[in-house]
Amino acid sequence: MYNKRPVNFAGVRGNAVLLAQQFVGEVLHKGCVAVDATAGNGYDTLFLANIVGESGRVYAFDIQQAALDITARRLKQFGLENNVKLIHDGHENMNLHIDSPVDACTFNLGYLPGGDHNSITGPSTTVKALQIALDLLKPGGRISLVVYTGHPGAGEESRAVEEMAAQLNPSLFGVLKVTFINRSLSAPFLIFIERVKKEK
Ligand SMILES: C[S@@+](CC[C@H](N)C(=O)[O-])C[C@H]1O[C@@H](n2cnc3c(N)ncnc32)[C@H](O)[C@@H]1O
Repeated sequence: MYNKRPVNFAGVRGNAVLLAQQFVGEVLHKGCVAVDATAGNGYDTLFLANIVGESGRVYAFDIQQAALDITARRLKQFGLENNVKLIHDGHENMNLHIDSPVDACTFNLGYLPGGDHNSITGPSTTVKALQIALDLLKPGGRISLVVYTGHPGAGEESRAVEEMAAQLNPSLFGVLKVTFINRSLSAPFLIFIERVKKEK
């Protein structure tokens, strides 16, 4: 019997954040461990917390206390604050806060919409955090990155992230770049990574 699930593209077309959520959401269920590497306004944290439930765990990082406060309020509104650890630290220090294997991790790069545009993700810290997240990722686990290209500094970061992702060993990781080819060159793009197996 043919029982492959169809990809539900309707409803998320054109929206990079929803596409990223759909990609990681597919491998998450109650009890899973997920990471939001950039908590920001808390939408991704809320999405992850809702899927992994009370028996799961979400670690959400941001360098801005204001972002963590917004995220905390959003979680509380939906009664989902209990299974989320909000961490006021850079995602490049993820390994200091997480010691268990991770099922999924989201990176939504750039700055906090409506917040301080100087508190921005950067090439070296993003690449370092991505390497740590890859090391923590379980086989079958997924990482999504929403990468922006329009703001100052974004070009350097997007090139660094893409360069690193392109060099991942294909026997260990599936890596996909998704671009909106009918939009302006400054439209965001996505990197999707799935760990195939653990290194021996
Ligand atoms: C585009 S926003 C994230 C949006 C968020 N995922 C949401 O659902 O609303 C990017 C966030 O990354 C944060 N950020 C910048 N550098 C960071 C770092 N090194 N570690 C963790 N967060 C960082 C910014 O403070 C900002 O809040």
